[in-house]
Amino acid sequence: MILNLETVSASDKLQAPAALRNQAAILDVLRRYLPAAGTVLELASGSGTHACMFAAALAPLKWLPTDQSEAALKSIAAWRAEQAPPAPLAPRHLDCLDNDWPVTDIADLKALVAVNLLHVAPWAVCAALFNGAAQVLPADGVIIIYGPFRRGEDFISSGNQQFDRELRARDAQLGLRDIAEVTAQAAVAGWRLAAEVAMPANNFTLVWQR
Ligand SMILES: C[S@@+](CC[C@H](N)C(=O)[O-])C[C@H]1O[C@@H](n2cnc3c(N)ncnc32)[C@H](O)[C@@H]1O
Repeated sequence: MILNLETVSASDKLQAPAALRNQAAILDVLRRYLPAAGTVLELASGSGTHACMFAAALAPLKWLPTDQSEAALKSIAAWRAEQAPPAPLAPRHLDCLDNDWPVTDIADLKALVAVNLLHVAPWAVCAALFNGAAQVLPADGVIIIYGPFRRGEDFISSGNQQFDRELRARDAQLGLRDIAEVTAQAAVAGWRLAAEVAMPANNFTLVWQR
């Protein structure tokens, strides 16, 4: 797991400095594109601090945090246990690459959110995300993906290009994704890019609908 996480205490709670920096800007975009009610499925919730903040800010919308990592799930549960309502729902284990996502019991699932996932996961996760979303979301469902992206060979900033090099050096399967390639992959599963929002620190929020 490539995470800049710091253990904040002897408990299971983890904290990602980037998540604290970007949460307010992401929340602004979520308010614009998420429905007012229903349940949001968050993939790759990591530490869980976003889930806690977004659940509190966006209620009565319900927030379902998930991750493939047991350490992340423990951290999400630890942060959640300390939060007064409205808190996120209990975290679930979900690996995007699995065929069956464990959300079929949730009747009012409306949206999927993934923050800082696509560049730290193999390219197959991109297709899995859009295919999985097509299976679990309703026809008017929305996908919101935040992170650093490139446009072809344009990395938007030298910092992003350096970050891409570091990721690829660590694992050749990782790296910043091309918005056009992600858009093409999304289209295979029936999703169209509905909005592209420039974010602080050379990141983007991409919004997908059917
Ligand atoms: C950089 S962290 C981002 C965490 C959090 N969203 C944030 O912004 O702080 C990437 C997360 O993606 C998760 N992840 C990686 N591959 C995954 C997969 N195939 N399915 C689900 N989660 C995955 C990791 O476990 C990790 O928690």
